[in-house]
Amino acid sequence: MKAPRRWFLAAGGALLSAACSGDQAPLDPAGRDASLIASLWWIFFWITAAVYLTVMLFVAVAAFRRRREVREGGERRLGIAVGGATLLTVAILFVLLVSSITTGRALGALDHAPRLRIEVTAQQWWWNIEYKDEEEPWKEITTANEIVVPVGQPVELVLRSRDVIHSLWVPNIHGKRDLIPGRANSFVIRADRAGRFDGQCAEFCGAQHARMRLEFIALTPAEFASWEASQRLEAPPPRTPAEQRGQEVFLGASCPLCHTVRGTPARGTNGPDLTHLASRRMIAANSIPNTRGHLAGWILDSQAIKPGNHMPPNALAGEDVQALLAWLGSLK
Ligand code: CUA
Repeated sequence: MKAPRRWFLAAGGALLSAACSGDQAPLDPAGRDASLIASLWWIFFWITAAVYLTVMLFVAVAAFRRRREVREGGERRLGIAVGGATLLTVAILFVLLVSSITTGRALGALDHAPRLRIEVTAQQWWWNIEYKDEEEPWKEITTANEIVVPVGQPVELVLRSRDVIHSLWVPNIHGKRDLIPGRANSFVIRADRAGRFDGQCAEFCGAQHARMRLEFIALTPAEFASWEASQRLEAPPPRTPAEQRGQEVFLGASCPLCHTVRGTPARGTNGPDLTHLASRRMIAANSIPNTRGHLAGWILDSQAIKPGNHMPPNALAGEDVQALLAWLGSLK
């Protein structure tokens, strides 16, 4: 086999297997919407594959069969064959159309009133996530770049943007939805099995569009209840001299202008809420792991990691960085 063809087949195979399984795979559904979309995709795949193979078969037969005179009554038979094929084509297109409309309607038909409402606000280049509760505002939770939901329960997502158009896509859970400045776009999702899934901004929104990612975490109802309870707490007071010093460094630098840490005077809203920073697995919109080393690099010069993001470099002394990391690490 020639090299380009081998690469082509290898690339095709890799794409198909990536789509069929994994934590960012539309054909490995873990939610109601994704299941509907995957079923529709397979209907289209098998029908169009069958049509393609049938057409190729006829092309091959036509190419290799010897030319013959059209016999008596042959014209009529040809007419019937062409007419039949045309009818079959129309019928197939009709099946595809009906299955597409049915899926579209099913996606639009929301489940019973969701108990949970999550507001997702996009900005260059991260996601602000708020769990709203109008009746009991003390229950509200703010986090960033991770959507945590209980398995089996319908959840309403309300999508907004602070700057340009973004698009939320967690392939294993739902189809793409745009976040448009000046309007709220809402839909209901349901995760059907527990797990961590990768989400991605799916609308080009500037230099760091590719690093505008998020984690979607589906927990069992019991796990979700305990996650919810821990996220509602304020940051604990510093327990060691290093943590105490770290908090002072944080509050004394420009950090509070952009970040909130509930339980401290820091109330900024331009950047992610850091009250439970240490409970998150990733930072920088799911771009780098939330380890001490990566976090240090991010604080000192995030521009080297994600050029153009809105966090300025911070020239801090070595001991101050260590103290700051100790305190941020305590924000579980
Ligand atoms: Cu936000 Cu692309």
